Amino acid sequence: MIIFKSINKLNKEVNFKANIGFVPTMGSLHQGHISLIKLSKKKCEKTLVSIFINPSQFNKKNDLKKYPRNLKKDIKILKKLNVDYLLKPNVNDIYKNKKNTKIKLEKNDKIMCALHRPGHFEGVLAVINQFLQKFKPKHIFFGEKDYQQLYLIKKFIKKNYKIKVFSCSTIRDKNNVALSSRNILLNRNDINKSSIIVSEILKFKNKIKKNISFTKNLNNIKTKINSLKNIKIEYLEIRNKYNLSKNYNKNNFKIFLAYYNKKIRLIDNY
Ligand code: PAF
Repeated sequence: MIIFKSINKLNKEVNFKANIGFVPTMGSLHQGHISLIKLSKKKCEKTLVSIFINPSQFNKKNDLKKYPRNLKKDIKILKKLNVDYLLKPNVNDIYKNKKNTKIKLEKNDKIMCALHRPGHFEGVLAVINQFLQKFKPKHIFFGEKDYQQLYLIKKFIKKNYKIKVFSCSTIRDKNNVALSSRNILLNRNDINKSSIIVSEILKFKNKIKKNISFTKNLNNIKTKINSLKNIKIEYLEIRNKYNLSKNYNKNNFKIFLAYYNKKIRLIDNY
């Protein structure tokens, strides 16, 4: 695996006319990332992974400070997977050209995480845009755990680039908790609570599938989840999985959840 610390060097050495798959990450790699890398390796001649903890997508300084960092372990994982290239740029490399770094969300898109983490998706789209302005992979890969992120990135890339976006479904641990780099910050007891939440929501989802009017019980399930010690829901919403509107039926709905497990903010969708 060749490790590049700057995009200039990457551009000098890598032929982007070839079929290159790009998996952008913030490191602390887990099976979710690994599934994206494996898909890229299947679809593309060469796979490029980036590890960049993007400051502009953190709306709280402390969250950025506490975000898990495991570079040595990440490199081991990437080497074992036979990844071709790792890009590990620094902040200056990405943001030195202050032009074109600001991206605005459309009014309709200011829902769920966009409402609760102001500036977050603007930061995500800015970093993806910075990457894609500087090099053009053929394919790019994102996880479905960050469903709203995937939705916004797909829309943004479709409008601005000729790059095909692929996604992989959420990978869950043995307790059915969605894998996230932030899970390292939870202890066993916290994970158990997250696991109870998943099973409550899955039960709820099954009831909705049988009878859409069961969505009326959304408040009951909110109260039930909030009654777990140290758990606080930020939002629990049902939306159309194709356009994220509130116009859904029993064949196209998805349940979206963001909550705090102690001080750790987690998201999931079902
Ligand atoms: O999902 C992530 O890890 C990040 O939001 C991404 C897409 C790598 C952008 O920094």
